[in-house]
Amino acid sequence: MNTQQLKDDFAKQFGAGGRVHIIRAPGRVNLIGEHTDYNDGFVFPMAIEPQVFFVCRARTDGKVVAKSSLFPGAAVEMSLTGTITKGEPKWGNYVRGPVALLLEKGVPLVGMDVLIVNTLPMGGGLSSSAAMEVGTTRSMLALAGQEMDLSSLALLCQKAEHKYADVPCGIMDQTIVAGGKAGHAMLLDCRDNSKQFIPLNPNDLSVVIVNSMVKHELSGGEYAERRSQCEEGVRHFQKSNPSVKALRDIQIAQIEQAKSALSDVVYRRCRHVVTENTRCLRYAEDLKTQRYESAGKLMVQSHDSMRDDYEITVPELDYLVETAMNIKGVYGSRMTGGGFGGCTVSLVLPRSVDNFMAEIKKSYRGKYKIDPVAFATNATDGASVVE
Ligand code: GLA
Repeated sequence: MNTQQLKDDFAKQFGAGGRVHIIRAPGRVNLIGEHTDYNDGFVFPMAIEPQVFFVCRARTDGKVVAKSSLFPGAAVEMSLTGTITKGEPKWGNYVRGPVALLLEKGVPLVGMDVLIVNTLPMGGGLSSSAAMEVGTTRSMLALAGQEMDLSSLALLCQKAEHKYADVPCGIMDQTIVAGGKAGHAMLLDCRDNSKQFIPLNPNDLSVVIVNSMVKHELSGGEYAERRSQCEEGVRHFQKSNPSVKALRDIQIAQIEQAKSALSDVVYRRCRHVVTENTRCLRYAEDLKTQRYESAGKLMVQSHDSMRDDYEITVPELDYLVETAMNIKGVYGSRMTGGGFGGCTVSLVLPRSVDNFMAEIKKSYRGKYKIDPVAFATNATDGASVVE
């Protein structure tokens, strides 16, 4: 998106003049390692090209006024000296949360006018919420001339998601949106926050995202329910070994041993998390060593595990994965993100991408009478100041 266009749009909304800054925050796709982050496990996301721009200018009256190109209704307003509470419109909570938490942390801030412009759709399972939180935080810091390290920034934004969007999410989305690296996926250890960047060779591989167009809504309670089922599993293992902190500390043999002592649901939830951690580590190794066929198989196993054990897929996503695997040049495919709708991610031979997108769209439209959005994306850098 052209920066002059963004500034012109800003001037139309807020008036001309003053020093206008532009900050960008990307969406993310997770290649593998799903629902492992809040179990102290491993995830393997990358930042993607669709993104959110924050065109902003300082105000001197201590107010934050936000407008969104996606929701052209009234502006969202808050005062840096008042109490900031969540409310309507809902998108405003992704601005209110970070501002309130920056204040709570004692970071000196100045007021802001901000126009938020998306090329990343909201609620599509590509972390639009983390992009809103990270972008808001980066904008407030930029206007106030403040700095924050990437881990603290991700933690602040995760807390904003918990408190202002009511989703008890893990740390993956905010970490990759804040700290992604162009051309690389990030193997993140969610226990100690250590990261390894693994290059994705665009001559060998394309990452293709297909949006099922089924609405993804994580505050519906299923996400929180999965978390508490994992915690129930952890409590069982702690009885015989108090040093167990999370499912990260459990091996598959222990899950099998505990099968009769756990409820069927908790057994299957634990089995997903433990096997997914193993798949995630193997996958990163496979990409490092160009074993793409093996990596692709792990993606399909991951999807099957999310469908059967974690029960977070929907028939539309299952259909997309099954269809993808019957198209030439596809190494692997799986649902990505929190689940219950949203997108699939596929690893595809670059020369097969056009055919893959055409075929999958045709097939999905034939079956569900819905046009899915499909696109290939490179891995991009995390949020940054454009100017
Ligand atoms: C959502 C959450 C993440 C993670 C994924 C599932 O995107 O925000 O923290 O738990 O679901 O892997």
